[in-house]
Amino acid sequence: MTPDAPAWIHDLYTPELAALFLARPPAVAAREAARVAALLRLPPEGGRVFDQCCGTGALALPLARIGHEVEGVDLIGDYIRAARAAADAEGLRARFEVGDARAHRAAPCHGALSWWTSFGHCGDEGDLSMLKRAHDSLLPGGRLALDYMNIPQVLADFMPAHALRTTYEGAPLTLLRETRLDLEGGWMLKTWTYITPGAPPRATESRVRMYMPWEVAAVMRAAGFERVRCYGGLGEEGEEGAPLTHQSRRLICVGERP
Ligand SMILES: C[S@@+](CC[C@H](N)C(=O)[O-])C[C@H]1O[C@@H](n2cnc3c(N)ncnc32)[C@H](O)[C@@H]1O
Repeated sequence: MTPDAPAWIHDLYTPELAALFLARPPAVAAREAARVAALLRLPPEGGRVFDQCCGTGALALPLARIGHEVEGVDLIGDYIRAARAAADAEGLRARFEVGDARAHRAAPCHGALSWWTSFGHCGDEGDLSMLKRAHDSLLPGGRLALDYMNIPQVLADFMPAHALRTTYEGAPLTLLRETRLDLEGGWMLKTWTYITPGAPPRATESRVRMYMPWEVAAVMRAAGFERVRCYGGLGEEGEEGAPLTHQSRRLICVGERP
């Protein structure tokens, strides 16, 4: 039986956080989807894709818009309801389910993705289980693309605190993110404090594993993937991915089910 997911995941991933950090402008999302489809080598006539930890469907929906059939799973009911509503409104071939990605096996698919640091939330055993489920969901030859923090860059440009001043639902909002590094345990610990006028500040915590690129690659291999490669971002036209350096802002690790 899968143990309960850490409680902080439910506290952190609110509609507010989705609006601030998960929503992408449509043109950006469309470009990202086209490049992800190329990286996953999805059949141009339309393939089946598993979006593990899909959030509100920020990438799943544009993949469906370009003709792929998408299955998405996420722990957060509000996110899944938002993704379903968007898919229904446009008549897209997309199915979204509330579930735990450590246990959810999708219908056999041509490609799978774990996007925007959805990995590293559930402890080493949970992280490995998640990648095993992605592996088991793929058809032979299918690829998983995992987008995650590039920890060498995060450490080189370490920012212990960052304040985002914005508006949410018409009201001013400051979101203060304070980050601590547990270098012995290998965790990135954050306190997220929402400050709105006339209300007491609300704080929530998160705890994400800091995997170095070669450690992500090792977990991919342990989950059964072969031909594992690490990139520093999505590639330009005709390129698999951007070269990975200590300055790359993202790590994209790709592996193939034999
Ligand atoms: C940073 S968000 C990224 C969401 C989405 N992939 C995107 O690109 O917008 C991480 C997501 O992972 C989900 N998540 C984390 N652990 C999970 C698990 N064990 N099962 C399902 N979803 C999980 C969270 O609920 C959250 O929606």
